[in-house]
Amino acid sequence: MSLTEKLKFKTLEWAGDHLRVLDQTRLPEETVYLECDTVDEIASAIKDLKVRGAPAIGIAAAFGVAMGMRKREFQSWNELEDELRRVISILAGTRPTAVNLFWALERMRKAAKTHHEESPGQISQFLLQEAITIHEEDKSMCERIGEFGSSLLKDGDTVLTHCNAGALATGGIGTALGIIYTATWQGKKISVFSDETRPVLQGSRLTVWELQQQGIDVTLICDNTAAAVMRSGKIDSVIVGADRVASNGDVANKIGTYSVAVLAHHHGIPFYVAAPSSSFDPAIPDGGKIEIEERSSEEVTDSFGKRTAPAGSDVYCPAFDVTPAELVTAYITEKGVESR
Ligand code: MRU
Repeated sequence: MSLTEKLKFKTLEWAGDHLRVLDQTRLPEETVYLECDTVDEIASAIKDLKVRGAPAIGIAAAFGVAMGMRKREFQSWNELEDELRRVISILAGTRPTAVNLFWALERMRKAAKTHHEESPGQISQFLLQEAITIHEEDKSMCERIGEFGSSLLKDGDTVLTHCNAGALATGGIGTALGIIYTATWQGKKISVFSDETRPVLQGSRLTVWELQQQGIDVTLICDNTAAAVMRSGKIDSVIVGADRVASNGDVANKIGTYSVAVLAHHHGIPFYVAAPSSSFDPAIPDGGKIEIEERSSEEVTDSFGKRTAPAGSDVYCPAFDVTPAELVTAYITEKGVESR
């Protein structure tokens, strides 16, 4: 049995004629699946964080293109291409930071172009096949990241992670959490501290949920507790994911990642970034050029089903920050471990 098959849930699943999406906004209270069969449903699911995490967003978008382009009558390739452009722009407008989204959309555009001499029906089959391939490739990239990354962990280690870079964020076992699963399944005892990850709590709602599902020892901390646990000597390494890695190695990831990197540096703790090559953007020279998504002020002011700030508060709510390359100890990709 592959490590991916050992997972207790499926984040994304092609159900033969539509995409089944685990609705992450309902976790941890309820396990509810959305049955998406239009591009608009997929675009809303991405925008509303029902499916989130850079690789999972890319995979969902690829299926969104396939669904947007099927069962359509086109008189010419030009007509089909116009519609393809429209469908891709709906998906491209959902979230700006994770490069996996744009990487997957470009792969879908190229797949259609490669087969432009075929009939519209055949092109739509090729598009579906490309989306399935993107999903399958992500599963194996996660497993390779897991294998390379687990060589950095010793039996008895405790890892701190931020946000959710697990099976819920990918098509497979995850990146940061995939390393923890792999090391555990190899027989090492690994414990995890999960930052809560304000404002929308991917750490507490998602990372703790999925680690519990897989039987991993996990302790939830508020984001502002990370410094204290590092100082107490409890943390052996930090592993996080990435939404976009610039060509100089700067890393955009969930807001708060930069603080964790600064803290790890101060305490002499290795800070690892685990990400597939689809998260690396050679076109962006440095992190300052990465577009950072800003989300609505309600994510901060109306946090837990109640108002948590006075009405009319000015709020700044970036979804991501940039960790400068010099704070990264190594990048763990499907190709290996690259130290700085
Ligand atoms: O806003 P989100 O939940 O999509 O942010 C997710 C993250 O920041 C993850 O760490 C990142 O996408 C890597 S997922 C393998």
